[in-house]
Amino acid sequence: MKKVKEFSGQIFKVEMVGNRFNMVSTAGTNVGSLGVNTGTRKKAYQNGQALKQIKTKSGSLMYRLVDMKEYSNLVAPLKTNAEVNVEASTKHEDIKNFIHNDSVSLKPESIVISDLKWKYLIRSAVRAKNIMMTGPAGCGKTMAAKSLVKALNRPDFYFNLGATQDARATLIGNTHFDSKKGTFFSESAFVKAITTENAVVLLDELSRAHPDAWNILMTVLDGGQRYLRLDEAEGSPIVNVAPGVTFIATANIGNEYTSTRVLDRAILDRFTTIEMDVLNDEQEFGLLKYMYPNVNDEDLKAVAEIAHHTREVSKGGDGKLSTMVSTRASVEVAGLLYDGFNLFEAAEIGIFPFFSNDGGADSERTYVKQLVQKYVKDEKADEKLFTEPTEEDSETIVW
Ligand SMILES: Nc1ncnc2c1ncn2[C@@H]1O[C@H](COP(=O)(O)OP(=O)(O)O)[C@@H](O)[C@H]1O
Ligand SMILES: [Mg+2]
Repeated sequence: MKKVKEFSGQIFKVEMVGNRFNMVSTAGTNVGSLGVNTGTRKKAYQNGQALKQIKTKSGSLMYRLVDMKEYSNLVAPLKTNAEVNVEASTKHEDIKNFIHNDSVSLKPESIVISDLKWKYLIRSAVRAKNIMMTGPAGCGKTMAAKSLVKALNRPDFYFNLGATQDARATLIGNTHFDSKKGTFFSESAFVKAITTENAVVLLDELSRAHPDAWNILMTVLDGGQRYLRLDEAEGSPIVNVAPGVTFIATANIGNEYTSTRVLDRAILDRFTTIEMDVLNDEQEFGLLKYMYPNVNDEDLKAVAEIAHHTREVSKGGDGKLSTMVSTRASVEVAGLLYDGFNLFEAAEIGIFPFFSNDGGADSERTYVKQLVQKYVKDEKADEKLFTEPTEEDSETIVW
């Protein structure tokens, strides 16, 4: 069976984007102008014809107007050769089967995400779409993105944009001076990433990146441009994004964190957005139990319920809580329980610091402390119910 490969058709259709006439390969990739003059591209577009690449005897390339059918006949159902099983196949049935059956077994057991959402992630990747995972902090965005990358079996690169100070150095590179070599430029790992065919490039915490980073990424992420400019100046050298490269970004959107900048609309438009689900108490308990099977159910249920309660209240918008206990935080707390801290101690370290002390008795922290106390008290009450007081006990009571 013929392998689907970018540019393999050598027939292109022309699409108009803004005032540009872009050539689109049979793999569905926008390849820009490919050096074909505007007049020819415009004519093809207006006639509804395709352009066929022809090699002349001298080895140079020419483009001839052909019937659009020639293009359509070659259109590959796949945009990348990303998938192990799908790789060698051009059959639509195989792709559907991969998304709906095979992909589910690639979902790691440790992550709580619905099968539907997972399939949608896989589908977006197979269809070479840039993906943006959104949701509040600590709900599994990075975990889901990394799991997806792993399931895809493609060359992968990771960049945490929330942790970078100098966007230019991270995304483009640095200029150095050496007494022997003089001034020279060392390109960034990002340049290596985007020039690797079929790479999946993870842009973690894109929402926390400096606006400089967004500006630099704008042309990189745009399907109609797909290049990185090495310098701000017009006409400066560019690096083209290799065929099949896709981007997966994560963004904290719709939450209280001030360090999260409001993502530029233009950046958002360059992605298919997938919102992570925030877990309910049952799902949260299931996850905690999976991770810490030796911790008693009561404590884990308490953690799950406390977290769930804060999520509901902070969502409610009555101002009682402006933030919530994330899944990341409840996993931390469960880890403390596992290491022998009691529920209140674990909450003191893993929950209370997230809530503000402002307002004293009316503070968010007081609210959450009382919530946790309720579960601690319940536990003590339960203990009393089950242990008969002994002689010794009554003797040691000092009050
Ligand atoms: N949906 C989830 N399924 C499984 N674990 C989760 C989930 N959400 C959060 N976690 C736990 O919280 C930790 C942090 O998740 P992470 O993906 O870094 O969150 P985010 O990127 O959304 O801030 C993970 O390592 C995992 O232990
Ligand atoms: Mg993250």
